Amino acid sequence: MTAASAVSAASAVSDAAPSTANPLIASSAEGHRRILTGDRPTGPLHLGHYFGTLQKRVQLQRQGIELMIVIADYQVITDRDRADRVAEHAENLVLDYLAAGVDPDRATIFTHSAVPALNQLMLPFLSLISVAELSRNPTVKDEIAHSRQATVSGLMFTYPVHQAADLLFCKADLVPVGQDQLPHLETTRTIARRFNDRYTPLFPEPQALLSEAPLLLGTDAGKMSKSRGNAITLGADEDETARLLRGAVTDNDRYISYDPETRPGVSNLVLLIALCQDRDPHAVAEEIGSGGAARLKRTATEAVNEYLRPLRTRRAELAADRALLREVLHTGNARANAIADRTLTEVRTAMGTF
Ligand code: TRP
Repeated sequence: MTAASAVSAASAVSDAAPSTANPLIASSAEGHRRILTGDRPTGPLHLGHYFGTLQKRVQLQRQGIELMIVIADYQVITDRDRADRVAEHAENLVLDYLAAGVDPDRATIFTHSAVPALNQLMLPFLSLISVAELSRNPTVKDEIAHSRQATVSGLMFTYPVHQAADLLFCKADLVPVGQDQLPHLETTRTIARRFNDRYTPLFPEPQALLSEAPLLLGTDAGKMSKSRGNAITLGADEDETARLLRGAVTDNDRYISYDPETRPGVSNLVLLIALCQDRDPHAVAEEIGSGGAARLKRTATEAVNEYLRPLRTRRAELAADRALLREVLHTGNARANAIADRTLTEVRTAMGTF
């Protein structure tokens, strides 16, 4: 069994009913036509992003589902004063997507700020959700708790409605995301339902496609995040990868096992190897056995560097061509504008406005 299927087999036994009966969560991509998902342009993508969603986006695109990716530049200023180096970060996201295998001829990669009609949808959508509903969103509450700002801005409070506009402007019906995005998806579905009831049925209620693989942690066994210095970015070189993994948190038990609850640091490295080699984490742990943390780290470094080698080679080639990256964004923005203009016209007609 692989890392991903080990978990889905376990959950099939323990909670098959909730995951298949929950209309918010899709059990597969079958029957869906358009995916939308996105990232904030705050820094380079790392292995957590890759195994959490990026790999899935590429797989789904290869299956023939249309892929839309929003570079969420307006979301950057939810929890900080300025969007620092936002154009550079946006271009680097395009670079990471293409290096990971996203086909720019078939995907639409765009930025919020370049698509006015998308942003305008936020106004009618705001009227369809109450302040009480917005204030219950657990992901927003958590972000407020960790924000660098002294006050909570109106944008922080309402960005899930903006995210609803991301999904509904293009009538996306499937969203490959992590657990933390589920409250936003619930808001989106509520807005779609209320719009359809109040005016004319226009919008699908998109479903989440959750990653099957367990969450990959940072090298300190906390949440993987570039700002915490515990993340292996896709573009890191082999020496930096080795250095980060050498410093990873493990424990004193020489015998390596896979037990995320009691041995988070060790298990996270085992999981990383399993994901890179598409193997069962228990088998990986058994193979290392009494080799201890040193052997575990060496194996993890080799596994990551080997797995990422083709991606990094492509990335280095593409990185030299900034004009191409900008061109991908220009084309994506033009396509997104055409779709958003059409949807806004439908919304105006449905509402009877000009
Ligand atoms: N909120 C997402 C994040 O922080 C980014 C995002 C913006 C997104 N719009 C989206 C994700 C629409 C899925 C769908 O990572």
